[in-house]
Amino acid sequence: MKKKLVGVLLSVSMVVASLAGCGSAAPQAAENAKTETRVADEPTAKADSAASEKLVVGFAQIGQESGWRDAETMSIQTYAEEHADTVELKFADAQQKQENQIKAIKSFIEQDVDVIGLAPVVETGWDQVFAEAQDAGIPIILLDRTADVDESLYATFIGSDFIEEGKEAAKQMAELIGGKGKIVELEGTVGASAATDRKTGFDQEIAASYPDIEIVASQTGDFTRAQGKEVMESFLKSNPDIVGVYAHNDDMALGAIEAIKEAGLKPGEDIVTVSVDGVKGIFEAMVAGEANCTVECNPLLGPLFFETAAKLKAGESVEKWVKSVDGVFTQDVAADVIDSRAY
Ligand code: AHR
Repeated sequence: MKKKLVGVLLSVSMVVASLAGCGSAAPQAAENAKTETRVADEPTAKADSAASEKLVVGFAQIGQESGWRDAETMSIQTYAEEHADTVELKFADAQQKQENQIKAIKSFIEQDVDVIGLAPVVETGWDQVFAEAQDAGIPIILLDRTADVDESLYATFIGSDFIEEGKEAAKQMAELIGGKGKIVELEGTVGASAATDRKTGFDQEIAASYPDIEIVASQTGDFTRAQGKEVMESFLKSNPDIVGVYAHNDDMALGAIEAIKEAGLKPGEDIVTVSVDGVKGIFEAMVAGEANCTVECNPLLGPLFFETAAKLKAGESVEKWVKSVDGVFTQDVAADVIDSRAY
């Protein structure tokens, strides 16, 4: 039964079909469809890899909800392709579902991979499957998002400080609106560390330092452009006097910009935007004067992920949190840096 479910999760047609719609990452990702389907294989991969001494890594990705996510997937798959002589990647696209990520992890355990990587779609609900990996002697790397489990259950977390991102976003928002006014907040996926912490950091900073800024509405847009637009449309109807929107990622900000324009207002002027990620699309919007600030969150984690996995396989110790170093970009610098953006 388990094998059948995993097979359904990672069937070639599903992976190729789902990747076909993911913008610039699609050709690269589709190239890797063969690699992805290996997750559904019988557990013979370890024997093959032992013979070749390759580092065998299973990675359970969340899905394709944003340009940021596509860039992270691209970074992981490109590294694996470029190091195919020493590395084997088993890649699972969980299509936004925790149950699919858990099935993928169980399949990686069955295949006895060397290391498991996971970007947890939500923070809770991982204890049991992480314990299974630990019992099998397979270390887990949390990539880009954290999980609410005992630290002993994973080897390391590689990623950004989301609370700091939220605080920085609050400072930028305050600067843009002169420390006062009504604003709205577009939250990421409910239960995801990236959403919970970006909200905590932003809301705390506003409450602590900017008494004249009021967050009049806050709702999830699930990190997608479409839902960011939809939620912003309803925000605009019930809050006609807002001066700013804080979005937990750039994709939702881009959706909000569409909604603001359709409401006959000028994004970037009538309503300012502050978001997180630093994807190309938000730089284009800033150059066009329609977005105001992005707090960077680096998705190009592939090389560090595999280097860390190699250390774990070799029995070396790794830091519990390998923190990304991120920047902040405002509208006035966007034109100068847009060509140097790698994602
Ligand atoms: O976990 C990182 C977040 O997930 C990114 O900010 C967002 O775009 C993505 O979906």
